[in-house]
Amino acid sequence: MTVRHLFLAFPLALLLWGCTEKNVPPAVIPLPVQTEPVKTGDFILSDKTILTYSQGNEELERLAGHLASELQNQTGIAVRIAENGGTPEKDAIQMLISDENSISHPEGYHLEIDDKTIRISASSPAGIFYGIQTLWQLIPVEAFSKPNDKARTVSLSGIRISDYPRYTWRGMHLDVSRHFFPKEFVKKYIDLIARYKMNIFHWHLTDDNGWRIEIKKYPKLTDIAAWRVDRTHQVWTEVSPPEPGEKAAYGGFYTQDDIREIVEYARQRYITIIPEIEMPGHTSEVFAAYPEYSCTGQTLYVQPGTYWPNTDIFCAGKDETFAFIEDILTEVAAMFPGPYIHIGGDEADKTRWKECKLCQKRIKTEGLKNEEELQSYFIRRAEKMLHKLGKRLIGWDEILEGGLAPDATVMSWRGFDGGIEAARAGHDVVMSPVSHCYFDYYQADPEFEPLAIGGFLTLKKVYGFDPTPPVLTADEAKHILGGQANVWTEYIPTPQHAEYMALPRMTALAEALWSPRDGRDFENFLERLQPHLARFEKEGTNYSKGSFKVALKPMYDTARGEYRIAMQTEQLRPDVRYSLDGALPGPDSEKYIKPIKISASTIISAGIFSDGKIMEKASTDSILMHKGIGSRITLETQPNFRYNEGGASALCDGFRGSTQHRQGHWLGFYGDDLKATIQLRKPDKVNTIRIGTLNAARSWIFAPEKVEISISADGKQFKPLQVQSPGVDVLSQKVFRVEFSANLPDEKISHLRVEILNRKTCPPGHPYAGQAAWIFTDEIIFE
Ligand code: ACM
Ligand code: ZN
Repeated sequence: MTVRHLFLAFPLALLLWGCTEKNVPPAVIPLPVQTEPVKTGDFILSDKTILTYSQGNEELERLAGHLASELQNQTGIAVRIAENGGTPEKDAIQMLISDENSISHPEGYHLEIDDKTIRISASSPAGIFYGIQTLWQLIPVEAFSKPNDKARTVSLSGIRISDYPRYTWRGMHLDVSRHFFPKEFVKKYIDLIARYKMNIFHWHLTDDNGWRIEIKKYPKLTDIAAWRVDRTHQVWTEVSPPEPGEKAAYGGFYTQDDIREIVEYARQRYITIIPEIEMPGHTSEVFAAYPEYSCTGQTLYVQPGTYWPNTDIFCAGKDETFAFIEDILTEVAAMFPGPYIHIGGDEADKTRWKECKLCQKRIKTEGLKNEEELQSYFIRRAEKMLHKLGKRLIGWDEILEGGLAPDATVMSWRGFDGGIEAARAGHDVVMSPVSHCYFDYYQADPEFEPLAIGGFLTLKKVYGFDPTPPVLTADEAKHILGGQANVWTEYIPTPQHAEYMALPRMTALAEALWSPRDGRDFENFLERLQPHLARFEKEGTNYSKGSFKVALKPMYDTARGEYRIAMQTEQLRPDVRYSLDGALPGPDSEKYIKPIKISASTIISAGIFSDGKIMEKASTDSILMHKGIGSRITLETQPNFRYNEGGASALCDGFRGSTQHRQGHWLGFYGDDLKATIQLRKPDKVNTIRIGTLNAARSWIFAPEKVEISISADGKQFKPLQVQSPGVDVLSQKVFRVEFSANLPDEKISHLRVEILNRKTCPPGHPYAGQAAWIFTDEIIFE
């Protein structure tokens, strides 16, 4: 029987745990495929326990040694290792490679605990390793103590687990260019990845702020490009350039010996390292050491902070550039045994290529159409080099532009779309969209959090990540290898801070990538998470307590014609209190039980309380009841993925955006117009239409050029309305809302069409005049 069949044979297994005394599921993360209790009584782990492994298997011998020494170090229990001649009948942990259970998945395992033995079986050592990780998680956190505590026993409940992963790519990334992280921390990070049964470490080794890997042939990469002036006391986006004569002494790099040591450390934990060597953009640090490979030839300094617009780029017109890259990739390939090398490919600004004679000549001689195709040419050449080295190419989704290299794997970060396009074209894909996978984003209210790059990505949102978009066919979906979270470190200068950003979000990601989609439940996950947090505390690993924000979610019940507000949080069993009268809620305010019906404009305020005190602060929103709420909205143009919370329905949901443009309720369109058709729930008379927009010149958001509104009584014939446009100083340094309005004739309408016209580019007089501009809209109000 395969593991999958076992799952079908015990579909109620999870439910059975609902009947246990404590009513808490075993705290295993990621959730195993199938778990059932075994009623024989507990296994007592003690100094009497013998640890056995399949005879002659060196990998298992190593795993047994590691398990025994960690048990001794962390729980004080000294088990005795014995290669198993005759398998002991009791007091034994047995690790065996076995085909007996037909554990067909190479990473799958069985773990069975009864009163006599703990038995971990798998078809490969990787499976045994994952079985060991599960065993660790079943050990109560109280057992983790100082090594010199006197000998103790740990009692483990009977259980039978059959488990295997959903995806083969379960990745975590770490950017060591923006800040250098020492070797010891990289190992700890690898340990955490392994604890949660992830198997890929994507090591972002090069970028504008420092080159971090020794290349013997080009020593200046680490003598010069690995070092910058120290600006850690300044905010990343506001750093000052180097002073004349100032020494570039902040940074670091890994020697080839360091790299080999870490590669071996990862291998022992069944983790493949994917090294990333950025090209053609995000390479300005290289030009501090070897300026001859850029278009301009200018010697740069290594940037101590933000670098924007980032126009420095490898010259695609010089053959020397490609020889340089090939030398580097040759050394990199020799250090990393894994099948892939990541070549970056993201955010390569083509300005220099447009100006460069050699790049333009290359476009001509190669018969390329434009600079996008030149990028594609560049990546194809890199792919040929990698193939010669026996490696495959993976890159960020920009490598789709101008045509994908034949065998390239795409890491989709700007959303899911790039990944969908690549999968449809028959390419392998790793999903890593900003919406669910950017762990440099805030995980709670920025006011209570360490400064971050922006964004907002809560534990719950990560938990909801599904790498396989439902629009793919089954055959296309086979190309989705899995997913990965990225820890970019512009705002993360220390290991402790990196832990804080990664945890506990990494645990939610692990479950999204390992566990079957159907069995997952956020509440259940939160229950299981608690002992993991306790273990982080015990071992001194930093983590975030997450968001204490109450999310006010509008819901429209079409059947009943009712508008309701749900209050969602990501805390376990929170005490949510709310008010509807504009006052801040207190510990004695109404307790939230289920979505509340709203029938008039109001101010709603809700918070989480603990010991009579509010955590963080209340979420407050004005709700503007109007006739458009619940309308059917069709968008002809789509919001940019960064500002699309609530999708089209956000345009008529009663919620207004604030002057903090990142705080939700705004739909953002980048370089694009907004074109929407709105069908009212039923034909009705409307006096006025008001449309909310935003002007925030410093964020490239401008009040629209023009707004066009037309109405219809049948959805076919539309007639335009006169729209009142306010006069606006779009270049103002202040952030302010701008409202457009129109009066309607005294007749029923059923449909409204709106076109909000983007200025397309930042206007003359703006520091980025000519670059694409945003429009932001929060609500289309029918009164
Ligand atoms: C990226 O975040 N630029 C891949
Ligand atoms: Zn050039």
